[in-house]
Amino acid sequence: MRHTLARIVGFTAILLSLGSLTAQSTDEGVPFPNGFRNWFLVNSMIVTKDSPIADQLGGMHIIYVNAKGLPTLKKSSPLPYPDGTVFADDVHEFLLKDGAYVEARKKVVAVMVKDAKKYSATGGWGFQVWTAGDPSKPLVPDTAHAAKACFTCHTPQKAQDYTFSTYIP
Ligand code: HEC
Repeated sequence: MRHTLARIVGFTAILLSLGSLTAQSTDEGVPFPNGFRNWFLVNSMIVTKDSPIADQLGGMHIIYVNAKGLPTLKKSSPLPYPDGTVFADDVHEFLLKDGAYVEARKKVVAVMVKDAKKYSATGGWGFQVWTAGDPSKPLVPDTAHAAKACFTCHTPQKAQDYTFSTYIP
């Protein structure tokens, strides 16, 4: 039962653990990445229901980086990323259709924005995620929640400035 429920809840499990889901803007103020679909498309990842991280990250992830972070991404140096770098993770449902996984409904847009001073508690990155990519529906209320729901999982990537993505030619 617990297992089934977790499956249904999916990516939202992590979000619900964030507590009250309000549209209030936060002190940390991670802005919505307007126009991110015109940025550089970094890579994609599909997390199926068979993945151990399906409950947290299930879906089709399409990652973008803005112009500020692109040179560093391409060379994997110099790290850390410069202030002003933004990564956006556009997460969609996917369907198996005629033997092919195809993109479906948008689940969330997740963001990491670099400001070494402002977000020093979480590796210099501000984390935020918006339900269905709706700028009026941010889900991370404050840094403490970002640390728990986002940063802990990114911490093992410290050597790469807490990011997973690399440039794939
Ligand atoms: C279960 C571990 C896990 C958790 C929890 C997690 N992430 Fe990630 N995140 C990943 C992985 C793995 C990738 C790489 C995806 C890819 O390469 O396509 C990633 C990639 C990203 C990226 C693209 C930059 C990068 O590191 O490659 C952003 C932005 C991001 N996550 C934001 C968030 C936010 C915001 C939260 C909290 C709401 C969060 N993540 C929570 C594992 C996690």
